[in-house]
Amino acid sequence: MPKRILSGMRPTNKLHLGNLLGALENWKKLEGSESFFMIADWHAFTTQYESKTHIKETTIEVVLDCLAAGLDPEKCTIFLQSLVPEHAELALLLSMITPLSWLERNPTYKDQLKEEKGGELHTHGFLGYPVLQAADILLYKADGVPVGDDQLPHLELAREIARRFNFLYKKKVFVEAEAILTNTPKIPGLDGRKMSKSYGNTIDLSDLPEEVDKKVMQMVTDPARKRREDKGHPEVCPVYYFHTIFNPQNEKTVAVECREAERGCVECKKEMSSHLVPFMKPIYDRRKQLDLTKAKVKDLLVEGSKKAQTIAKATLAEAKEAVGIGV
Ligand code: TRP
Ligand code: SF4
Repeated sequence: MPKRILSGMRPTNKLHLGNLLGALENWKKLEGSESFFMIADWHAFTTQYESKTHIKETTIEVVLDCLAAGLDPEKCTIFLQSLVPEHAELALLLSMITPLSWLERNPTYKDQLKEEKGGELHTHGFLGYPVLQAADILLYKADGVPVGDDQLPHLELAREIARRFNFLYKKKVFVEAEAILTNTPKIPGLDGRKMSKSYGNTIDLSDLPEEVDKKVMQMVTDPARKRREDKGHPEVCPVYYFHTIFNPQNEKTVAVECREAERGCVECKKEMSSHLVPFMKPIYDRRKQLDLTKAKVKDLLVEGSKKAQTIAKATLAEAKEAVGIGV
């Protein structure tokens, strides 16, 4: 068990089932460690800098989703990156010692540049994304960072930056953090592609039970199975994949009956939904029960950020002392 963990989530969209099975479930398991959970609004801003209100609103939504999903603010510190300016300051310091080549070869950076349509991501801030992430982690001397495997290159960079700093100035200011990988594989969305807000194929944590049910009925199935009599291929069917997660006790039966054309897709979806909806029901109930206003969520973030800041301040002072900046 790591001593202190830190993780972040960008408030770019409200959370969906994929986020829950990935990051959040992992989080809840780690509540025994001293844990910091950060809403990375500056990171959201690296890609969404053109929208003025979106990040603010989504910040509140994401916190609500997290609380509804069972993250307990009594057991972990939930805070907002932009409320702890030490993140920006340490990122500036670290940017001075990070070679450009490390950032340019970052696979996440290359992938995202390839995907974007305009030229909007050719910014200093976006290239420096991992430097800011390194600052997030190093400020708290976190030894564990729960993330999905897409974040491994960023973690490696954070370790390299920490090592370089400790080598250049002073040993042991920063700690090299290990990734704590989530073992749940990525879940498919309604259309069979990876569940992602940008594909519009998500089941959101804030969906009402009847919406969840409706979305399941819209899911794609084995495309080769056009008629009820056609034998199916569960291995290519997202509904089947959902069965393996939410209805594992019947997983084998579902597969056999699908292959033998002994079950129709509609009944198959109904069965799956009858497991998925109860799985999501506690989230729905908790959201209602918490009945949190925007103002209360803000208070919670301000409180959490104060706690985080005491640690961040001390580390930043130590780092500035080691480099010899200030008076
Ligand atoms: N880059 C992470 C993501 O997109 C979010 C993040 C920001 C983060 N700062 C972090 C994750 C620090 C772990 C630690 O998911
Ligand atoms: Fe998918 Fe079920 Fe239809 Fe088979 S029967 S293709 S597993 S929805």
